[in-house]
Amino acid sequence: MKKSLEDHAARFDEKASEYDESKSDEYRACANLVIEHAAPDSSDIVLDLGTGTGAIALALAPDAERVVGRDISEGMMDEAEQKATAEGLENLEFDYGTFREPEYNGEVDVVTSNFAMHHLSDAEKREAIDVIAGLEPQKFVLGDVMFFGEPDPDAAFYSPEVDDPATVGDLADAFTDAGFSLTAVERVHDQVGVLVAERTPAPSADAETGLATDE
Ligand SMILES: C[S@@+](CC[C@H](N)C(=O)[O-])C[C@H]1O[C@@H](n2cnc3c(N)ncnc32)[C@H](O)[C@@H]1O
Repeated sequence: MKKSLEDHAARFDEKASEYDESKSDEYRACANLVIEHAAPDSSDIVLDLGTGTGAIALALAPDAERVVGRDISEGMMDEAEQKATAEGLENLEFDYGTFREPEYNGEVDVVTSNFAMHHLSDAEKREAIDVIAGLEPQKFVLGDVMFFGEPDPDAAFYSPEVDDPATVGDLADAFTDAGFSLTAVERVHDQVGVLVAERTPAPSADAETGLATDE
């Protein structure tokens, strides 16, 4: 991480009240793809990491049983809470938590994150993906700044002084090493994409022993 958690939190606290006003087409496309791929059903619990002002959390709440939002910026989460209240949504909760320590140990079916994990170094992203895998979600939908080609600090979305995006290949390796299978890769821009990682089902006892079933 190029800045401390406290520095990132202060940076987002400062811009929280204006954050929703200046969004690029690529950001919107990325958020929409995260929402579309997350597709929770009415019994699913969603954990949204780096939830910010709740773009993903609020969009998924009407379809999910519950949405848990975690972030390091109280200012961003205050905005999310105000919007949830204004929209009459009651199945959301927001609290402090980081990617590597989400401060959540309950059940979770779908983990989402949009435009947030690129603040972590590649080693920290791997740690975070391992922690998330340990919560045993069926699916992790990650929309973020990521490199499909050579990193280009002169192009949009990548500011080397604060961002530390990974290549799509490194993210794919981290997901598969943590026991996920990559089931979709969506390129929104050379430096923005959405990855869908699903847990590989454990082999059944019959498959392991090679025993045939009656079916
Ligand atoms: C660009 S905003 C994205 C917010 C939201 N997901 C969206 O799509 O609009 C990035 C968010 O990630 C949060 N963040 C940065 N580093 C984090 C970390 N290590 N753990 C949790 N949240 C983090 C920031 O506080 C900020 O709210």
